[in-house]
Amino acid sequence: MEAAWKDPKLANVLYHDWEAGTYDEKWSISYDERCITYATDRFRAVSGGVGPYEHALELGCGTGFFLLNLMQGGVIKKGSVTDLSPGMVEVALRNAVNLGLPVDGRVADAERIPYDDNSFDLVIGHAVLHHIPDVEAAMREVQRVLKPGGRFVFAGDPTNIGNFYARKLGQLTWWLTTNVTKAPVLTEWRRPQEELDESSRAAALEAVVDLHTFDPGDLERTARAAGAREVRAVTEELSAALFGWPVRTFEAAVPKGKLGFGWAMFAYRSWQRLSWLDENVLAKVLPREVFYNVSITGRKPL
Ligand SMILES: C[S@@+](CC[C@H](N)C(=O)[O-])C[C@H]1O[C@@H](n2cnc3c(N)ncnc32)[C@H](O)[C@@H]1O
Repeated sequence: MEAAWKDPKLANVLYHDWEAGTYDEKWSISYDERCITYATDRFRAVSGGVGPYEHALELGCGTGFFLLNLMQGGVIKKGSVTDLSPGMVEVALRNAVNLGLPVDGRVADAERIPYDDNSFDLVIGHAVLHHIPDVEAAMREVQRVLKPGGRFVFAGDPTNIGNFYARKLGQLTWWLTTNVTKAPVLTEWRRPQEELDESSRAAALEAVVDLHTFDPGDLERTARAAGAREVRAVTEELSAALFGWPVRTFEAAVPKGKLGFGWAMFAYRSWQRLSWLDENVLAKVLPREVFYNVSITGRKPL
């Protein structure tokens, strides 16, 4: 365990193996219309279209959120999932079986993808680039396994500025909630101390597995240096992130089930409205660097 603090790849395996069984619940991941729309919208926002692509590979698939929902949305016909964490690959393949989707999978490091050259029409990832020590090496591997003219889409990684305000807001919300609920009249809103301690330990390990935040322009230069063409980074979520991070942190800081369905609907609908504001108003007047999420796409030259 000690070694994990110095080895980000080992930390990633331990942390994500530990998270695999509860990951979908923690991040409110589902395989229904809500997440199908979310995944296809993210894909379309950066790539400009939605395929369909014959065979796609996902790097850092986690439980399969991105690839499985894109398959259900008709963007991808056949899928291969990979992740550094064996626990995550197992859950992703189980989710695929439950959904009746044609998916195979392997445990794999994105810096050394265990597939032949020119194998895939599309390579995707969601919230994975910021965990990979050598992003340019992974991008070179993506170029190698793509067929000529094939596309890659990586979505959902944090920008430098977005990560700064999201972390600060999260820390402030956690501190406020865990201190205010010490008041005797609010004890039923306080999670048991051992659960709070476990969350704090997880947050400390998170600092070891989260290796990068990105400037959109630098990320484009990295992709081009790896050989990609038609490279384009887009950013999303500003007001939605300023709302969403404190909300998610608050939800994690109070006992499970305390907030109920009404709260979940309030949080989701508010996030939807703010995302609309970000996309249709703020994105037109503010620089892309201030938004929270960055996505990048590009192609392998023909
Ligand atoms: C934040 S999770 C995202 C999972 C999933 N893509 C999603 O959006 O729900 C990041 C995933 O990347 C995986 N990962 C971390 N480093 C990796 C690497 N070097 N190669 C492949 N996968 C990696 C982790 O094990 C984890 O499952």
